[in-house]
Amino acid sequence: MSFCVQYSRSLRQHLKKSFFKVFTCCRYKSSDCSKHGELSLELDGYTIRKAVKQDCQAIHSLIQELANCLKMPDAPQIDAKALEVDGFGRRSFYEGFVAESHKFNQVVGYAVYYFTYSTWQGKSLYMEDMYIRPEDRKNRIAVSFFHLVSQAALIENCTRLNFCVLESNKPAAKLFQSLGAVDLTLKEGWHYYRIPRLGIEELAKPSIISTFNSQI
Ligand SMILES: CC(C)(COP(=O)(O)OP(=O)(O)OC[C@H]1O[C@@H](n2cnc3c(N)ncnc32)[C@H](O)[C@@H]1OP(=O)(O)O)[C@@H](O)C(=O)NCCC(=O)NCCS
Repeated sequence: MSFCVQYSRSLRQHLKKSFFKVFTCCRYKSSDCSKHGELSLELDGYTIRKAVKQDCQAIHSLIQELANCLKMPDAPQIDAKALEVDGFGRRSFYEGFVAESHKFNQVVGYAVYYFTYSTWQGKSLYMEDMYIRPEDRKNRIAVSFFHLVSQAALIENCTRLNFCVLESNKPAAKLFQSLGAVDLTLKEGWHYYRIPRLGIEELAKPSIISTFNSQI
């Protein structure tokens, strides 16, 4: 089971203050750029920048690492090629940031997000995943991802930054709540639903209208 978390406009004020404190220790490159592609920053030992097509293989490996760490190793069903086409093909279904280690010249973390729409508050950003390799944690990479993703959200004038965290993932939930995130399952009772592919195919059949029986 997962719970949904959301940043509201008022919470972003809190976020802004926290980031101001956090980033006094970083070599900070671009705080007021006007395009997502220019969003980047330098941490001690890492560059945090927009993901590009050439990162897809590394992102794919890290997605598998995250699934292993969540004890769901069989969950990832796509390959690096799908990430390339879906993110950097004719139509872009997601965007992302990566953390590149200076020491190994290697991508060690990613944050993937896309834009959604709220019928109550308009443009929103959904953060799908965030993962940093264990040996590279506690270097403010996650906070940096939140900072840059928040900038991308503000550039598009989003009012919400939404994401889900597994109930068992207490350390991540604690960090996200300290950054101003609210647990919407606890606060408002929202539950996160999914109709999987087979269900979509059933619903897409013309016969569903006449044969549907809620008792099934
Ligand atoms: C959750 C996760 C993304 C955090 O990444 P991270 O890069 O370690 O996070 P940060 O360094 O930005 O901050 C994490 C903590 O380290 C602390 N920290 C950061 N730099 C530090 C430093 N130099 N010295 C001491 N502490 C530091 C932060 O204050 C924060 O503390 P807290 O946990 O007590 O709140 C990472 O642990 C991870 O990838 N986990 C597995 C995947 C996951 O859970 N993803 C989220 C759900 S999809």
